[in-house]
Amino acid sequence: MTAQSKSRYAEIYAAAKNDPEAFWSEAAKAISWVKAPTKAFDGSQGVYGRWFPDGELNTCFNAVDRHVASRGTQTALIYDSPVTGTQRRITYKELLAEVEALGAVLQDRGVTKGDTVIVYMPMIPEAVVAMLACARIGAVHSVVFGGFAAKELATRIEDAKPKLILAASCGIEPNRVVAYKPLLDEAISLSSAKPDAVVMFQRPQAAASMIAGRDHDWAEAVAAAKAAGKKAPCVTVKATDPLYVLYTSGTTGRPKGVVRDNGGYCVALAWSMRGLYDIRPGEVFWTASDVGWVVGHSYIVYGPLINGSTSVVYEGKPVGTPDPGAFWRVISETGAKALFTAPTAFRAIKKEDPKAEHLKKYDLSGFRALFLAGERADPDTVKWAEDILKVPVIDHWWQTETGWGIAGNPLGLGALPVKHGSPTVPMPGYDVQIVDEGGKPVGPNTMGSIVIKLPLPPGNLPTLWNADDRFRQSYLETFPGFYNTSDAGFVDADGYLFIMGRTDDIINVAGHRLSTGGMEEVLASHPDVAECAVIGIKDQLKGEQPCGFVVLKAGVNRSPLDIEKEIVGLVRDKIGPVAAFKIAITVNRLPKTRSGKILRGTMKKIADGDAWAMPATIDDPAVLDEIAASLKAKGIAG
Ligand code: COA
Ligand code: AMP
Repeated sequence: MTAQSKSRYAEIYAAAKNDPEAFWSEAAKAISWVKAPTKAFDGSQGVYGRWFPDGELNTCFNAVDRHVASRGTQTALIYDSPVTGTQRRITYKELLAEVEALGAVLQDRGVTKGDTVIVYMPMIPEAVVAMLACARIGAVHSVVFGGFAAKELATRIEDAKPKLILAASCGIEPNRVVAYKPLLDEAISLSSAKPDAVVMFQRPQAAASMIAGRDHDWAEAVAAAKAAGKKAPCVTVKATDPLYVLYTSGTTGRPKGVVRDNGGYCVALAWSMRGLYDIRPGEVFWTASDVGWVVGHSYIVYGPLINGSTSVVYEGKPVGTPDPGAFWRVISETGAKALFTAPTAFRAIKKEDPKAEHLKKYDLSGFRALFLAGERADPDTVKWAEDILKVPVIDHWWQTETGWGIAGNPLGLGALPVKHGSPTVPMPGYDVQIVDEGGKPVGPNTMGSIVIKLPLPPGNLPTLWNADDRFRQSYLETFPGFYNTSDAGFVDADGYLFIMGRTDDIINVAGHRLSTGGMEEVLASHPDVAECAVIGIKDQLKGEQPCGFVVLKAGVNRSPLDIEKEIVGLVRDKIGPVAAFKIAITVNRLPKTRSGKILRGTMKKIADGDAWAMPATIDDPAVLDEIAASLKAKGIAG
C-alpha cells in the first residue's frame, strides 16, 4: 500500500466538496454553541454567503472557559522569552481569571459588543489575554504588529476607530528596546479618530509616560477589578459577528481590514488543529510567529486554545537569542509536538549553523512535525530541515484573508507523500483552480492565476471592514464566481499545487507581507524625487528584499547618496523597520512601455539574474542597460 492510499484525504476532501452542508455541520460539533446552527451555509447573506448564519456562541468561551472544568490545571500558555530571560506557565484556570478581569476593565471603560479595540503589544501572554478579553465581551480586536511605524498604526486607528487601545510600553528586539508609547502617542495624534482610553501594560525595560485622564495602568486596573470581584461574563454573539479585523498590505499604502467572523473561524480552526496539524488536546503546539500576523491569531491564540492544547508564546528569534539552537531548546523544554514557522527562520538557522551542531544538545524525541508557511518554502530549506530533524516537514499555503491553510499536507488524515516545492493539496472546502488571464481553466503543469471557487470555506474573510465594495473589487471581480488569491502557480498531474509568486505588487520579505505600492508612495513623498519604482529582489535569507529606484527632479544637485540614505530612513519612519528597506538606487530614468507603464517585472528579472526578453512595447531599450549598470554598481547581481 502506498502512503497516499493510506491517507483519508481524498475521501474527506470529496465529502466536503459533495456535501458541504453535511461536512461543516458535522465539523461544527467540535464547538460549544450557545445556539447550535441549524444550517451550515446561507448563500443569500453577505457578499458571497455566510457560514452558520443562525448559530450563536462566544469564541473566548470555546478557547478558555470550556476547558477549565476538565483541564483547568493544564498549562494553556508557555511564555518563553530569551530576550528578557523569562519563562512562565499559565494554566487554563489562571488564563480565565486574567481574561475575566481584563474583560471587566474594558467594560468599565464603556467597551461593549461590536466596539473595536486596537491591541498594540509584543509577544507577551498579556497580548493573548487582550485578544481573548475582547472576544469575551463581544468587542472586535485589531492587533497591530510592533514593527510598524506610527503612520501605519495611525492608518489602522483611522480605519478601525477603536473605542480603546490596549498597549504595552515596549517590544524587545535583540539589538534594541522598541518604546511603543511614543509611537502610539504619535499615531493617535496623526489620526482623526481618537480612542477614549489607553490601557497600558508597563514593562520594566521601558516605562511609558502616561497622559492623565486618557491613559490607565493595566496592572492597577486589573488588580482593582480582581479585588472588587469583577468578572466579565461571556457575551453571546452571532456566528457571523466579527471577532477581529486584521489589517494586511494591499496594493496601495492603505491596508485592507480583513474581517474574521466568530463561528466559521472557530469551526475551521478546530478542524485544522486535528485534520491538518494532528494535534490533540493536552499536547503542546508552538507557532513561532507574532500575534500581529494572521498566523499568530490562528495558531498562537485561537486554534491551540480552542483545541484544548498548550500554546507557546515565544519572544525571541530563531538566531541571536542567543544562538541558532534557540528553536531546539524551546521544543525540548516545552515538549512541543509540532512547530509552525516561516521558511526564512530555517534559512537563518541554516546560515549560522549549517551542520546543525546546536541540535545535538537537545532531546527532540517527542517532536513530530515542522510546518512552514508565510512564503514559498524553497526545496533546499525543506530538505535541510528534513535531514536534520528527521520528521515530516510540511509546507502549507495560506493568506491573511483565508485565516487557515488553503493547501497543505493533512497529517491528521494520514500524510500524503511530500513533494519539495509544493504545499501539497487543497484543504477540505477549498475548490482551487488555475486559470488563464481570461479566467479559463488551464491544464496540469501550466502556470496561471490561482483562484478559489466561491463560496470560500468557513474561517475565510466574509468581507473587508466597512468596505464591501473594495472587497468585491479586490478579490471577486477579476474572475466572476471565484476568489482571486493574487498568487500564481500550477497544479501537477497528481493534483499537487505549486505556488510560485504574487500576481500583484505584494512582496514577501522574511515571511512578512509588504506592499511595494505602499513603499512607492513613501519614496514619491521625498521632495527631491520625481518618480520611482520599488521591486522585490531575491534575497538568500529573507526570500525577497525591497529595492527602490528613484529619478530625481530636474535641478536637484544634492549628492544622490545622501538622498538615498534619506529615502531609506523615510521608509523606516513611515512604514517601519519591518519593511527592511535598505536599497535605494538613483537612476536617470525608468524603463517604460510606450504607454508609460513602468517595466517592474523586467527590472526584477535583471536584478535577480533571471533570463529576460526585451519587452516588445518598450519605449527605449537602452534604459534597461542603465538599470543593469546601476544595480551592478550597488553590488547587486544582474
Ligand atoms: N517590533 C519592532 N521591530 C521589529 C519587530 C517587532 N515586532 N520585528 C522585526 N522588527 C525589526 C527588526 O528588528 C529589524 O530591524 P533592524 O533593521 O533594525 O535590524 C527589521 O524589523 C527587519 O526585521 P526582520 O525582517 O524580521 O529581520 P531580522 O534581521 O531582524 O531577522 C529573521 C531575520 C529571519 C531571523 C526573522 O525575520 C525571523 O525570525 N523571521 C521569522 C518570520 C516570521 O515570524 N514570519 C511571520 C509570518 S509566519
Ligand atoms: P500573508 O497574508 O501575510 O499570510 O501572506 C500571504 C501570501 O504569502 C500568499 O498570498 C503567498 O504569496 C505567500 N505565501 C504564504 N504561504 C505560502 C506558501 N506556503 N508557499 C508560497 N507562498 C506562500
